Amino acid sequence: MRKLLVAGVMIAFGWVAFSLATNAEDAKPKYTIKEVMKSAHKAKLHEKVADGKATDAEKKQLVEFYTALAANKPPKGDEASWKEKTAALLAAAKDAEAGKEGAGAALKKAYNCAACHGAHKGS
Ligand code: HEC
Repeated sequence: MRKLLVAGVMIAFGWVAFSLATNAEDAKPKYTIKEVMKSAHKAKLHEKVADGKATDAEKKQLVEFYTALAANKPPKGDEASWKEKTAALLAAAKDAEAGKEGAGAALKKAYNCAACHGAHKGS
Protein backbone atom coordinates (compact mmCIF):
# COMPACT_ATOMS: atom_id res chain seq x y z
CA MET A 1 0.00 0.00 0.00
CA ARG A 2 2.73 2.41 1.02
CA LYS A 3 4.71 1.54 -2.05
CA LEU A 4 1.72 2.23 -4.26
CA LEU A 5 1.26 5.61 -2.66
CA VAL A 6 4.90 6.52 -3.22
CA ALA A 7 4.64 5.45 -6.85
CA GLY A 8 1.51 7.53 -7.29
CA VAL A 9 3.15 10.62 -5.86
CA MET A 10 6.17 10.13 -8.07
CA ILE A 11 4.01 9.85 -11.16
CA ALA A 12 2.15 13.00 -10.18
CA PHE A 13 5.46 14.82 -9.74
CA GLY A 14 6.63 13.57 -13.08
CA TRP A 15 3.56 15.04 -14.74
CA VAL A 16 3.99 18.41 -13.11
CA ALA A 17 7.65 18.55 -14.14
CA PHE A 18 6.72 17.49 -17.65
CA SER A 19 3.99 20.08 -18.09
CA LEU A 20 6.20 22.82 -16.65
CA ALA A 21 8.92 21.92 -19.12
CA THR A 22 6.53 21.97 -22.07
CA ASN A 23 5.08 25.29 -20.95
CA ALA A 24 8.53 26.81 -20.78
CA GLU A 25 9.17 25.58 -24.28
CA ASP A 26 5.94 27.16 -25.51
CA ALA A 27 6.96 30.48 -24.06
CA LYS A 28 10.40 30.52 -25.58
CA PRO A 29 10.80 29.54 -29.22
CA LYS A 30 13.68 27.22 -30.01
CA TYR A 31 15.31 29.75 -32.36
CA THR A 32 15.14 33.54 -32.58
CA ILE A 33 14.05 35.22 -35.81
CA LYS A 34 17.67 36.15 -36.54
CA GLU A 35 18.81 32.57 -36.06
CA VAL A 36 16.14 31.35 -38.48
CA MET A 37 17.13 34.00 -41.03
CA LYS A 38 20.77 33.01 -40.81
CA SER A 39 20.47 29.25 -40.58
CA ALA A 40 17.59 28.80 -43.00
CA HIS A 41 17.45 31.77 -45.36
CA LYS A 42 21.08 32.83 -45.62
CA ALA A 43 22.08 29.18 -45.92
CA LYS A 44 19.46 28.78 -48.66
CA LEU A 45 17.87 25.81 -46.94
CA HIS A 46 14.46 27.10 -47.99
CA GLU A 47 15.49 27.01 -51.69
CA LYS A 48 16.80 23.50 -51.42
CA VAL A 49 13.53 22.33 -49.92
CA ALA A 50 11.44 24.28 -52.47
CA ASP A 51 13.45 22.83 -55.35
CA GLY A 52 13.05 19.32 -54.02
CA LYS A 53 16.80 18.96 -53.44
CA ALA A 54 16.76 18.69 -49.68
CA THR A 55 17.25 15.52 -47.67
CA ASP A 56 14.58 14.39 -45.21
CA ALA A 57 16.69 15.71 -42.36
CA GLU A 58 16.94 19.12 -44.03
CA LYS A 59 13.19 19.25 -44.61
CA LYS A 60 12.63 18.43 -40.98
CA GLN A 61 15.07 21.14 -39.99
CA LEU A 62 13.21 23.73 -42.05
CA VAL A 63 9.92 22.75 -40.38
CA GLU A 64 11.65 23.28 -37.03
CA PHE A 65 12.96 26.68 -38.07
CA TYR A 66 9.56 27.82 -39.28
CA THR A 67 7.84 26.44 -36.18
CA ALA A 68 10.15 28.65 -34.12
CA LEU A 69 9.66 31.59 -36.50
CA ALA A 70 5.89 31.42 -36.07
CA ALA A 71 6.31 31.33 -32.28
CA ASN A 72 8.41 34.51 -32.27
CA LYS A 73 7.17 38.05 -32.12
CA PRO A 74 8.36 40.33 -34.93
CA PRO A 75 10.18 43.56 -33.98
CA LYS A 76 7.69 45.52 -36.05
CA GLY A 77 4.25 45.25 -37.63
CA ASP A 78 0.87 43.72 -37.13
CA GLU A 79 0.63 40.43 -35.23
CA ALA A 80 -2.13 39.05 -37.49
CA SER A 81 0.00 39.66 -40.56
CA TRP A 82 3.00 37.94 -38.94
CA LYS A 83 0.86 34.95 -38.00
CA GLU A 84 -0.51 34.67 -41.51
CA LYS A 85 2.91 34.86 -43.17
CA THR A 86 4.65 32.48 -40.82
CA ALA A 87 1.72 30.02 -40.88
CA ALA A 88 1.95 29.91 -44.69
CA LEU A 89 5.68 29.18 -44.46
CA LEU A 90 5.18 26.46 -41.88
CA ALA A 91 2.31 24.83 -43.77
CA ALA A 92 4.32 24.77 -47.02
CA ALA A 93 7.41 23.37 -45.27
CA LYS A 94 5.30 20.66 -43.64
CA ASP A 95 3.74 19.78 -46.98
CA ALA A 96 7.21 19.55 -48.50
CA GLU A 97 8.29 17.28 -45.67
CA ALA A 98 5.25 15.09 -46.33
CA GLY A 99 6.12 15.03 -50.03
CA LYS A 100 2.91 16.72 -51.16
CA GLU A 101 2.69 17.94 -54.71
CA GLY A 102 2.80 21.71 -55.15
CA ALA A 103 4.54 22.22 -51.81
CA GLY A 104 7.65 23.68 -53.46
CA ALA A 105 5.64 26.28 -55.35
CA ALA A 106 3.68 27.17 -52.21
CA LEU A 107 6.91 27.54 -50.30
CA LYS A 108 8.39 29.84 -52.94
CA LYS A 109 5.32 32.02 -52.73
CA ALA A 110 5.48 32.07 -48.92
CA TYR A 111 9.14 33.00 -48.47
CA ASN A 112 8.79 36.45 -49.96
CA CYS A 113 11.79 38.10 -48.26
CA ALA A 114 11.02 41.70 -49.24
CA ALA A 115 7.30 41.55 -48.42
CA CYS A 116 7.91 40.25 -44.94
CA HIS A 117 10.90 42.49 -44.24
CA GLY A 118 8.92 45.52 -45.37
CA ALA A 119 6.15 44.72 -42.93
CA HIS A 120 8.07 43.25 -39.99
CA LYS A 121 11.79 43.88 -40.02
CA GLY A 122 12.76 46.62 -37.59
CA SER A 123 15.54 48.34 -39.51
C1 HEC B 1 7.82 35.79 -42.36
C2 HEC B 1 8.66 36.94 -42.45
C3 HEC B 1 10.03 36.87 -43.08
C4 HEC B 1 10.39 36.27 -44.26
C5 HEC B 1 9.52 35.51 -45.23
C6 HEC B 1 11.79 36.52 -44.42
N1 HEC B 1 12.28 37.24 -43.36
FE1 HEC B 1 14.25 37.74 -43.05
N2 HEC B 1 13.71 38.73 -41.35
C7 HEC B 1 12.43 38.83 -40.84
C8 HEC B 1 12.44 39.65 -39.64
C9 HEC B 1 11.25 39.99 -38.77
C10 HEC B 1 13.78 40.06 -39.45
C11 HEC B 1 14.33 40.96 -38.33
C12 HEC B 1 14.73 40.13 -37.14
C13 HEC B 1 15.17 40.95 -35.95
O1 HEC B 1 15.58 42.10 -36.12
O2 HEC B 1 15.10 40.41 -34.83
C14 HEC B 1 14.55 39.46 -40.55
C15 HEC B 1 15.93 39.59 -40.72
C16 HEC B 1 16.68 39.01 -41.72
C17 HEC B 1 18.12 39.07 -41.83
C18 HEC B 1 19.06 39.81 -40.85
C19 HEC B 1 19.40 38.87 -39.71
C20 HEC B 1 20.25 39.54 -38.65
O3 HEC B 1 21.06 38.83 -38.03
O4 HEC B 1 20.07 40.74 -38.39
C21 HEC B 1 18.48 38.39 -42.96
C22 HEC B 1 19.88 38.14 -43.50
C23 HEC B 1 17.26 37.88 -43.55
N3 HEC B 1 16.19 38.28 -42.77
C24 HEC B 1 17.20 37.14 -44.72
C25 HEC B 1 16.03 36.73 -45.33
C26 HEC B 1 15.94 36.13 -46.65
C27 HEC B 1 17.12 35.89 -47.57
C28 HEC B 1 14.62 35.86 -46.86
C29 HEC B 1 13.96 35.25 -48.08
C30 HEC B 1 14.43 34.02 -48.54
C31 HEC B 1 13.88 36.26 -45.67
N4 HEC B 1 14.77 36.79 -44.77
C32 HEC B 1 12.53 36.08 -45.52
C33 HEC B 1 11.29 38.22 -41.34
C34 HEC B 1 11.23 37.48 -42.53
